[in-house]
Amino acid sequence: MRASAGPENTGDRPQSTKLACRGLWKVYGSNAARILQQRNFTPTSELLQSHGLVAALRDVSVDIREGEIFVIMGLSGSGKSTLVRCLSLLIEPTAGQVLFENRDLVTVPEKELIWLRRHKMSMVFQHFALLPHLTVLQNVAFPLEIQGIGQPTRESRAAEMIELVGLKGREGNYPRELSGGQRQRVGIARSLTTEPEVWFLDEPFSALDPLIRRELQNELLRLQRILRKTVIFITHDFDEAVRIADRVAILKDGIVEQIGSPEQLVLSPATDYIAEFTRHVSRAKVVTVAAIMQRDWQGASAANPVKSNCRIETVARQVLDSEGATRVVDDAGRVVGAVSRDAVLSVLFPES
Ligand SMILES: Nc1ncnc2c1ncn2[C@@H]1O[C@H](COP(=O)(O)OP(=O)(O)OP(=O)(O)O)[C@@H](O)[C@H]1O
Ligand SMILES: [Mg+2]
Repeated sequence: MRASAGPENTGDRPQSTKLACRGLWKVYGSNAARILQQRNFTPTSELLQSHGLVAALRDVSVDIREGEIFVIMGLSGSGKSTLVRCLSLLIEPTAGQVLFENRDLVTVPEKELIWLRRHKMSMVFQHFALLPHLTVLQNVAFPLEIQGIGQPTRESRAAEMIELVGLKGREGNYPRELSGGQRQRVGIARSLTTEPEVWFLDEPFSALDPLIRRELQNELLRLQRILRKTVIFITHDFDEAVRIADRVAILKDGIVEQIGSPEQLVLSPATDYIAEFTRHVSRAKVVTVAAIMQRDWQGASAANPVKSNCRIETVARQVLDSEGATRVVDDAGRVVGAVSRDAVLSVLFPES
């Protein structure tokens, strides 16, 4: 795995690691573990191929911090779903560790693992995966039913979740009576009824049209402000990642190419692949004032300073309309630098 570039922009998020993996391999095919060991965990692609093995994950190590939204990106087949399934031990890794609150889940007895999965983790799938013969209320209450919780308690908890995702009044409907966006809200509500600590979302919005998708991204951010889960979110779409991620991991052929904030990936791509991946992203949506300001603010106008953590997109007009440079302040209102019109123009028009 390559190191992330530059200092990390984590804002006021807590820093403790909630979930991690170390040297994680998932190789599909028979005798995969033995062959990996024999080759000292450095098999060539040709060797794997000659044994009919598919390496979905190769030596992956990531740390996911408590309370962050960690996005996993990559092309189809790059190993995203496999990584998420290994992190929740839904599938067993071929080698490596999965650390949940510093305990290696690979060594946890099956019964306890099932308990952990039911109580501490939950998953939202791309294709909703609702039970068609159950109402909205029954679908949302279902994970609590599996936990053996009585009907009145589980239904009142489900009703709360349905209200939280904006579907109050639709409790008695069946999934077929709902739109795609509404079904995914049910999927979200269902995944939250057990109050999970780690919330996995595997391409939850990719079946939806762009407007509904955006609405649900906002919804996710609203819920996260209230609930503060540790979120692991898979997407194909860098624009979606930019909107929601604290940090992003980019996978290519089962290898983590880079981990960093969207801004780090755009400004300091570790490889040509990352540069290509992020080439079409609007830099103004990603780059913050802090990344382009100068430390010297002598001569910059004292009127209407801009905040260092704002995206260029939100301050561009104001900076460009000013006579000279504009002062930059931190969250506490202290002046920390100045941003020039040229610096903003170079973000808006990177090729010029
Ligand atoms: N059960 C399996 N047996 C053999 N190979 C598998 C199995 N499941 C996944 N793979 C292979 O592992 C690789 C990674 O698959 P994975 O589903 O993790 O990709 P993904 O990044 O989630 O792709 P997508 O964006 O299409 O969902 C692919 O080459 C896939 O064909
Ligand atoms: Mg997938």
